[in-house]
Amino acid sequence: MCGIIGYIGNEDAVPIIVEGLKKLEYRGYDSAGVAVLNDGRFDVIKKKGRLAALEVEIQNTAQNATPIHGHLGIGHTRWATHGEPSNENAHPHLGNQEKIAVVHNGIIENYHTLRARLQSKGIVFQSETDSEVIPQLAEYYYEAENNLFDTVIKVASRLEGSYALGFMCVDTPDTIIAIKKDNPLIIGVSEHGNFIASDIPAVLKHTNQVYYLNDNELAVLTKEGITFYDTDKERIHKEIETITWSMESAEKGGYEHFMLKEIMEQPMILKNTLAKTLSQPPVDITRFNRIIITACGSAYNAGVVARYVFEKLCRTPVEVELASEFRYKDAIIDEKSLVILVSQSGETADTIAAMREAKAAGASTLAIVNVVGSTIAKECDYCFFTAAGPEIAVATTKAFSAQLLVLYSLAIRFAAQLNKISPAEEKSLRAELEALPDKVNALFAHTEEIQKYAASCIGYKSIFFIGRNIDYAIALEGSLKLKEISYIHSEAYAGGELKHGTIALIEENTLVVAISTCKRLEAKIMSNVEQVASRGANILSIGARHATASAVIPLPETHELFTPSLSVVVLQLFSYYVAANKGLDIDKPRNLAKSVTVE
Ligand code: M6R
Repeated sequence: MCGIIGYIGNEDAVPIIVEGLKKLEYRGYDSAGVAVLNDGRFDVIKKKGRLAALEVEIQNTAQNATPIHGHLGIGHTRWATHGEPSNENAHPHLGNQEKIAVVHNGIIENYHTLRARLQSKGIVFQSETDSEVIPQLAEYYYEAENNLFDTVIKVASRLEGSYALGFMCVDTPDTIIAIKKDNPLIIGVSEHGNFIASDIPAVLKHTNQVYYLNDNELAVLTKEGITFYDTDKERIHKEIETITWSMESAEKGGYEHFMLKEIMEQPMILKNTLAKTLSQPPVDITRFNRIIITACGSAYNAGVVARYVFEKLCRTPVEVELASEFRYKDAIIDEKSLVILVSQSGETADTIAAMREAKAAGASTLAIVNVVGSTIAKECDYCFFTAAGPEIAVATTKAFSAQLLVLYSLAIRFAAQLNKISPAEEKSLRAELEALPDKVNALFAHTEEIQKYAASCIGYKSIFFIGRNIDYAIALEGSLKLKEISYIHSEAYAGGELKHGTIALIEENTLVVAISTCKRLEAKIMSNVEQVASRGANILSIGARHATASAVIPLPETHELFTPSLSVVVLQLFSYYVAANKGLDIDKPRNLAKSVTVE
């Protein structure tokens, strides 16, 4: 999704903004722009494509002896929603009179109405975006208000939808104003100036001191300081927070891609997350008669794995729902329901909406979140943090593994509370969890093998992932990982389902990845493998050895319920190397965004 950075201070804003935008690239974007305020006017450069194109354009202005510079400015990476990626649709947007400049992350749902009203007053729009109504509306109100602060409040009161916004005005060259609703925005404080940004990495080079802006709060930034207000114009006090992770931990550290670095970090992440589970908030599961897990994408897949674990250990029925479906289904939940939300970013629009639906229905909400200070982390009743650190690659790996671990730990804890497992069983399950980081490490011994095999797979048009039971759950994640970074069509099927239709697609030169870790179901998946092999499929086997497989990646022994933590690492490496061999932009796959903050 879009990325915002704004700077006001003693230094030249342009390089700071461009550098900050680079740290937000992981969010996904297709154009970028920067506006600085200098000598009573805005200098704006916007460019379709990657940041490199914007940088060239900035350099061209310098060579033409009209370099853009200034001590306050706003920058933006745009992920197109309304209007194609183009220079005109890129942010920052200005009003017709070029008095107010704005960057926006989110979606303005009533922009059609606002645009039509402004057009009827003779205002001419330059872009196809929903966002442009914001500076146009701001200039319209500014005529009467003559004050940026009041104008921002008035504009916000007319907007429906979601937004994180940064405003500059030519009449107040010493101020940037920010406001947000349902989209993240942080405020950074450094010795040489102050920042607004969509995420911490954008400012971390300059400061580790940040404020998290809440919905309907305004931040007024000057180079000397920051003041916060609510939309009734009352001053509010906010606590500054210190970021404890370093920029280094968000850099590639010698790996070709963040995704590979993040895969390799998993043993450490699992250890850290396990340590964090010791300080999980107390939840009394006996208060609830229903557990619903809801999330999107990979986080949803973590929920599907968790259903097998919770049901097996706690003997409680668990439902897993896509958050985008849950939010509109009028779910049958009440105060005896525990709704578990899983989200790396804590900002996924559908998961936030699902959480709010659950709360409105009286259910308790428990979130498993990676980003401290995110909307879900702040609004849920109980928050369990994964300790994955910043995840930069769009395709999640380490955060997914950390989510699994927190879910396992929670299931063990609930099972103990419900007296479904004995203290000895609890101890033994926990010991299995503690052994997982070393087992993941041991798996890396197969990296070269996986890499070679993946290199031979780039020509496949379609790849199927099959498994039974919990292996089927993790097959869903394997399939998603492959399609999002390699652009190869893939599907995950429960082995037993193949005969009910999908086997019609199996022909010579189809690859079937068979995950087989459940000992008691080995013979079953074996027979599915034989069925597809006899129809010409090539087989990659993960876990058990099948006679027909062209490659087998064995897994270390662990409890059946925890095998997804091992098989997923093989699946991640396989997808990574298929995409790497295709020479694709692995960390920023086409059409995808790290954090899906719009519906
Ligand atoms: O930030 P979240 O965990 O809520 O994000 C959910 C999905 O958007 C995310 O898992 C997505 O599916 C990733 N691209 C998977 O790699």
